[in-house]
Amino acid sequence: MHVLTILDHPDPASFSAAVARRFMDGAKDAGHSVELADLHAEEFDPRWTKADIDAEANGDTLPDVAKEQMRIDRADAICLVFPLFWWGMPSMMKGWVDRVWTWDWAYDQLDDPNKSLQRPRSGVLLIPAGARSDEMDEAGYSAALETAWINGTFGYFGFSPRKLELLCGAKGSLERRKSLLERSYQVGRDIAAFRN
Ligand SMILES: Cc1cc2nc3c(=O)[nH]c(=O)nc-3n(C[C@H](O)[C@H](O)[C@H](O)COP(=O)(O)O)c2cc1C
Repeated sequence: MHVLTILDHPDPASFSAAVARRFMDGAKDAGHSVELADLHAEEFDPRWTKADIDAEANGDTLPDVAKEQMRIDRADAICLVFPLFWWGMPSMMKGWVDRVWTWDWAYDQLDDPNKSLQRPRSGVLLIPAGARSDEMDEAGYSAALETAWINGTFGYFGFSPRKLELLCGAKGSLERRKSLLERSYQVGRDIAAFRN
């Protein structure tokens, strides 16, 4: 399989960047080819502008969007890595999702989230989060994110099977972070095998 990892973090020394690397190590060790889209390093422009609206109206694709869509075209599995910011995506990843997964390329069946224009691809979200998992579960955040992203957005995009891995306690002890990195590695190792 060809595995595409999308990373949103400006600091190569961050925990999120380490998660992306360990995930890719796992995928490589399982015999897959890997590709990294490092959105900050590549200076992806996340702003959705009038140019995006005009391109959609004219049936065109902007060059920077086309570059990302070509990456997606050649991928059999996709992994998104970004730190949880205010129970959502940081702006770079949000803009990448908004601009790249366009109507009429990624989806058009608004009444059927499971019907995408894209072929099915294994999809995983590896999300470092500061909060503890019991806090996130009790307050309902884990279920809300599962609903929004797994039942919603990434179904429209054809991610199947798809999985949300919240890496809770990412600011915790060294031990804790080591175990989260090991989990990231295992997700990469098992990317071809996981099921919904
Ligand atoms: C602007 C901002 C918003 C954040 N919002 C949340 C949040 O809503 N929930 C949470 O659990 N952690 C939150 N955090 C903590 C980050 O998720 C945590 O710092 C990050 O996962 C650590 O990974 P990193 O070292 O790669 O940045 C927030 C951090 C920042 C800077």
